[in-house]
Amino acid sequence: METKERIEWLRAELHRHNYNYYVLNTPEIDDRAFDRMMEELQRLEAEHPEMYDANSPTQRVGSDLNREFVQVPHKYPMLSLSNTYNKAEVADFYERVRTGLEGEPFEICCEMKYDGLSISLMYENGRLVRAVTRGDGVQGDDVTENVKTIRCIPLCLTPGTSYPADFEIRGEILMPWTSFEELNREREANEEPLFANPRNAASGTLKSKSSVVVARRKLDAYLYYLLGEEVPCDGHYENLQAARSWGFKISEGMRKATTLQEIFDFIDFWDGERKRLPVATDGIVLKVNSQRQQRALGFTAKSPRWAIAYKFQAEQAATQLRAVTFQVGRTGTVTPVANMDPVLLAGTVVKRATLHNADVMEQLDLHIGDKVLVEKGGEIIPKIVGVDKEARGADLGEKVRFVTHCPECGAPLVRYEGEAAWYCPNESACPTQIKGRIEHYISRRAMNIDSLGPETVDEYYRRGLIRNVADLYDIQVQQINGDGSREKSARKVVASIAASTEVPFERVVFALGIRFVGEIAAKALARNFKSIDALASATVEELSAVGGIGQVIARSVVDYFARPENRELIERLKAHGVRMELSEDELSAHSDRLAGQTVVISGVFARHSRDEYKAMIEKHGGKNAGSISAKTSFVLAGANMGPAKLEKARKLAVRILSEDEFLAMIEM
Ligand code: IVH
Repeated sequence: METKERIEWLRAELHRHNYNYYVLNTPEIDDRAFDRMMEELQRLEAEHPEMYDANSPTQRVGSDLNREFVQVPHKYPMLSLSNTYNKAEVADFYERVRTGLEGEPFEICCEMKYDGLSISLMYENGRLVRAVTRGDGVQGDDVTENVKTIRCIPLCLTPGTSYPADFEIRGEILMPWTSFEELNREREANEEPLFANPRNAASGTLKSKSSVVVARRKLDAYLYYLLGEEVPCDGHYENLQAARSWGFKISEGMRKATTLQEIFDFIDFWDGERKRLPVATDGIVLKVNSQRQQRALGFTAKSPRWAIAYKFQAEQAATQLRAVTFQVGRTGTVTPVANMDPVLLAGTVVKRATLHNADVMEQLDLHIGDKVLVEKGGEIIPKIVGVDKEARGADLGEKVRFVTHCPECGAPLVRYEGEAAWYCPNESACPTQIKGRIEHYISRRAMNIDSLGPETVDEYYRRGLIRNVADLYDIQVQQINGDGSREKSARKVVASIAASTEVPFERVVFALGIRFVGEIAAKALARNFKSIDALASATVEELSAVGGIGQVIARSVVDYFARPENRELIERLKAHGVRMELSEDELSAHSDRLAGQTVVISGVFARHSRDEYKAMIEKHGGKNAGSISAKTSFVLAGANMGPAKLEKARKLAVRILSEDEFLAMIEM
């Protein structure tokens, strides 16, 4: 065999074995034989660079190149589904479909709702050309290189099958439970923060800058939506069966239903059976099967009228309450935590649950020894949802009461008007708050000083090296390297603290840890006020005029800057070179986000007036237009957008954005 033919043969064989192994679960050859073929192909490709192919099976091993993701627009917006939580709501949906289709018979395709992150895959002439995340629904991140490492996603479709030349297929990327648990075990050993659930783990993995990391973390994918001008059938179910024959992993559990009872049976069956699946699911998706009927039913601004999600009840378990402890957060909030007898819930042992605040705790009327009902939803942190009062006996313990003093520093707690939380007001001396603020400041999403962690913060605090975040910048190598044995790591710590002065202003605003100012609010504040001095002198009115900033955040910002110790802290950070204003680049980026785009506004809005939206569009470099045409970039749609406009937008394939989507887009 000629080298060229050998390479092509190896590629075809490896694609086929991949498919047998990862999609069909029926390998024909063992791992060693597979590896030998892969090694041979790698060697031949290295010797013959002219034979390079971006979709060769060797490209699945990943590359260590660092890359930023490029944002690409979706051809069709990636909408979400509206949720239902009980059978009555499902019956309502069924009725709406029936009326919408004016009595015409219809089928409903029932499928699993996979709990991962959605992905859109583009294929041209049988080859994967692009993979894009949902992003804001209008545009997402190009994650093609990372997706290529996911073994069950075909790089080349099965030869000889009749796939269209050009199509898009959407689905969900998932981390199987076993990989998730293994990953968290590894992270625990490395003292890295754990992923809360497989969805976050899959998302974190897919956004990794190194495809080697992605390749190692065994992701899985199910595809559930075929789109394109030339899909084979009118039926959604039939299209997916065809897609299976082209090489895609399609759930075996899909069923078509023609009555409401069949839908309910499907729901009941999978509510139990899903626990045996290797990946997380959080419900059922119901879709009108015929695409012609789907088009007749159409979309609202947010979701299709032809589909709906039914969410499963979170799992619950009963156990006994042993004690309630109180945790102090970095802003002084005191959170009650229930400590219970260990109980198995949704596959993990649970022994602690948050009680949120004094009101929630009071409402439950908890007594030590109570039999409590714990629930775990999509998150890993469980909560107590009820107490079995019937089960109380003579040996019932005392009623649980909220503490009156800070369990860490002893200060009497305070409660501010209109707030649910109790606070320790001893901001400047409560050690837990001081350390908590520093931990927040160094965290990855804030200043990202990754050579420090909670243990080092605790140590430096005990040794008196740090009392606030500005002290970090005064630390000397000799101070850390007391006995001379830690020279190398001490230098690393000092260097990474110094490097944090490069962190952009918006993250500095977040890092300050102003109560209620999360990442999104920090971004909005930084973008609007542009410098710390302008932010520090803003009034409650000026602050709350910013989109996304309400009265509570505004007041908290004013309170923060009213405190002399905070102003002094900021002056010290400034002197150390920490960024306290937007850079030139960031300033100019703000104004041309919509450059070249023509926008039509339609409907009524909840968050801003139409005039405000018009002004925003212009401020970001876009143009307002009165009617929809082929030149329209997108429609900003509020409630009650006229049906004629909607129809026209759809005909011309113009994107429709809700106000939330629009605001997210310009504040990105
Ligand atoms: S269909 C227009 N099918 O749920 C129809 N979505 O809230 C769009 N999802 O963003 C989606 N399993 O990430 C569809 N079998 C399934 C699904 C599914 C999970 C996710 C998807 C979507 C979200 C909708």
